[in-house]
Amino acid sequence: MDLKRRIVDELAAGRARSLDLLEPLAPEDLVRQHSPLMSPLIWDLAHIGNYEDLWLLRAVGVDGVGPHLDDTYDAFRHPRRDRPSLDLLDRTATGRYLTDVRSRAVDRLDAVSLDVESPLLRDGFVYGMVVQHEHQHDETMLATLNLMAAPGYRPALLPTPAARAAAPAEVLVEAGPFVMGTSDEPWAYDNERPAHVVDLPAFWIDAAPVTNGQYAEFVAAGGYDDPRWWVQDGWAWRQEAGLEHPQFWQRTGDGWCHRRFGWDEPLAAAEPVQHVCWYEADAYARWAGKRLPTEAEWEKAAAWDPVAECHRRYPWGDGPIERADGSPANGSAGYGSARGGALAALANLDQRHFGPAAVGAYPAGASAYGCVQMLGDVWEWTSSDFRPYPGFAAYPYREYSEVFFGPEYKVLRGGSWATHPTVARTTFRNWDYPIRRQIFAGFRCARDPDGGGR
Ligand SMILES: [Fe+2]
Repeated sequence: MDLKRRIVDELAAGRARSLDLLEPLAPEDLVRQHSPLMSPLIWDLAHIGNYEDLWLLRAVGVDGVGPHLDDTYDAFRHPRRDRPSLDLLDRTATGRYLTDVRSRAVDRLDAVSLDVESPLLRDGFVYGMVVQHEHQHDETMLATLNLMAAPGYRPALLPTPAARAAAPAEVLVEAGPFVMGTSDEPWAYDNERPAHVVDLPAFWIDAAPVTNGQYAEFVAAGGYDDPRWWVQDGWAWRQEAGLEHPQFWQRTGDGWCHRRFGWDEPLAAAEPVQHVCWYEADAYARWAGKRLPTEAEWEKAAAWDPVAECHRRYPWGDGPIERADGSPANGSAGYGSARGGALAALANLDQRHFGPAAVGAYPAGASAYGCVQMLGDVWEWTSSDFRPYPGFAAYPYREYSEVFFGPEYKVLRGGSWATHPTVARTTFRNWDYPIRRQIFAGFRCARDPDGGGR
């Protein structure tokens, strides 16, 4: 498909998704802060427009619509807890701002060349960046909606698919080199670049994410009361924050229920556990005689094809992800139509079910090594700190990745049920503090061939 046509369609699909998510909300729920960890939803929405104003208008040579709004909607100038006190645009003004910016951005796209030396425009990079930014904020907004108090937000749900095939418990990834990261994915972020060879010793990795049922065994075994399983900082945090089980779990007699979008449901034992912080994931792994995979191990298990000796864009192969009619899901038509088709059999993305699906629900989405559900369902914590790859160059701005490099942040991989297909790929890197639990994150375990963790 023509690249400009695809960009226009992707921009439209992202916007439809943002507006669909917020459409059911009462005005007061748009401006209220539902958690000090999150922005008021109306801030996210206008920030999406301001980012587009900066990058698809001013950065490509035309006047912006709202330079006077830059301070209010600059994520680096105002931490989330302070955003409710800003002078925010109301719903109507936000809608007008978004529409004005979009119409000028599409006009400008018409006039520019995408086949140029400028790295900003080449292959539509800056448009891909803005599309992905909107989808990433949509996932953040879903985390906010999930924190809203009861009776909460009730999305239209499609039932999650049941397990179709039992995966083996673990798979062995033999020793050897593989290619990590990418140099040729046009819309990849700077932190995914460049492609480089990493030589790993052999390791075992769980074929599927750890489930609620498995995690409940750790809770029942007193895992939260035994400092042996926790790193020192994690034990201190477990005590300070009073952690006793994953966020949103509540005891019900002899079992558990969990709260989703403000509604209590029986705990789904077969689904991947979510809303655990890195410290909890790490403690579970140690209790199970294992460890978290490194980021490199995760990517090799997800992306490397040891027979063809090539790196796959998705665990099941290279893209684009196709719909049933053969057209690419990450392009063309509107947002709604991208939600069906072949992708639905491969991975749980795009809030199709507003929650994770049972382990074993996507056998067709397995990686070359036989790992399932590596994209979608839950982000997966890895043991790795967020660091630059060898040869990293910040682009197009330091605040996307570089200012976050260091030991404070742990890397998450794979994408969740709330991640859009345009953002989901085996090289994509997410990162967060090891105490964060509101994100849609779980984990799988790994171990060395000679026994347990290291
Ligand atoms: Fe942002």
